Amino acid sequence: MGETIVKVENLTKRYGKQSIAVDHLNMNVRKGEVYGFLGPNGAGKTTTLRMLLGLTRPTSGTGEVLGKPLGSSDGLAKVGGLIEYPAFYPYLSGRKNLIIMAKYSGTPLSRVDVVLEEVEMTKSAKYNFKSYSLGMKQRIGIAAALLKDPELLVLDEPTNGLDPKGMAEIRSLIRKLSKEGRTVLLSSHFLGEVEQICDRIGVIQNGKLVKEGTVEDLRGQVKLFIRATPAESALRVLKGMKDIDDVQEKDGAFYVTTDPSLSGSISHKLAENKIEVSELRNLERSLEDIFIELTESETLLHKKEVL
Ligand SMILES: Nc1ncnc2c1ncn2[C@@H]1O[C@H](COP(=O)(O)OP(=O)(O)OP(=O)(O)O)[C@@H](O)[C@H]1O
Ligand SMILES: [Mg+2]
Repeated sequence: MGETIVKVENLTKRYGKQSIAVDHLNMNVRKGEVYGFLGPNGAGKTTTLRMLLGLTRPTSGTGEVLGKPLGSSDGLAKVGGLIEYPAFYPYLSGRKNLIIMAKYSGTPLSRVDVVLEEVEMTKSAKYNFKSYSLGMKQRIGIAAALLKDPELLVLDEPTNGLDPKGMAEIRSLIRKLSKEGRTVLLSSHFLGEVEQICDRIGVIQNGKLVKEGTVEDLRGQVKLFIRATPAESALRVLKGMKDIDDVQEKDGAFYVTTDPSLSGSISHKLAENKIEVSELRNLERSLEDIFIELTESETLLHKKEVL
C-alpha cells in the first residue's frame, strides 16, 4: 500500500452559474485500500465519482486515475464502475446480460463465468434479472464492473436500499475483492458501513472534502469514563497524573482524555490513594458524532459565508 492511484486537485463541477456540486475537492486514494467517500445526500459523491469515471467533465481542476489524466481512455481501461442503479434487461438472465455487456465492451466472454463466480452468482445466473432480489441485482452490477478485470473498482453507494443481511453480504464481497488486490473506492452515507470496511475515509460536505484519514484519525483522542468515590480525591489524583491531558467532571463522573492503554495504571493509582473505582471504560466517540461535528462546523462556515 502507499502508491497513489487516484489523485484529484481542486476538482470542481458547476451546474449553471449558481449551483456548485463539487467545490475544489482534493483527495487521494492509495493502491490496495478500501477508501470510503462519506457524505450526506447532495454532498457531491456521485458527481465526483462520475468525473473519476469519465462520465462527466469537470468544470475545473485536475486529476489522475492510475497515472493517467482524468477521463482518458488509457486510465479508464483498468477502472470498473457501478454508479447508481445499473440498467439491465429484466427478461434476460444474469449471465445473458453480462454476455451482452462483455460483447459490447470487447471483453473476452470467458470473463463472464469468472466474474459470476467472484460475486457468488454462478448458480442463479440462469434466472431472469427481474426475478433477482435487490442484493442479487447489486451483485450482477458488481460483476459487470469486474468484467474488464479492473485494478480500481468504483462503487456508488453499493449497499443502498438493501436489508441488513444484504448489506452484510455486499460488505463481505467488497472485503474479498479488496483482499484479491483490487483497490476499492466506494461512497456511502452510512457511517457504520465505512467504519467496518474502509481503510481510509474522506468526508464530503457541500462539495468539499472536510476531512480525510483513517477511522482512527477521524475518531481522534479517546476518552475514559470513570466513576470513583470519594469524587474530590479522585479529581485531585486524576488532575495530578502527568499522562492525563484533560479531566472533565459531569454528573458525578469523570471524562478523562488520555491514551486508553493507560486505563490500568489510572485504576491502580486511584486504588493506591484509597479511592474506590466503580466504573472505568473507554468512551469512544462514534464516527456519527464526529460526522455531526464536522458537518455542523462546515454548515456554520457556509452560513457565515452567506451572511
Ligand atoms: N445533472 C445535474 N444538474 C444539476 N444539478 C445537479 C446535477 N447532478 C447533481 N446536481 C446537484 O449537485 C449536488 C451534488 O449531487 P450528487 O448527486 O453528486 O450528490 P450525492 O452526494 O451523490 O448525493 P446522494 O447521497 O443523494 O446520492 C446536488 O445539489 C445536486 O442537486
Ligand atoms: Mg449520489
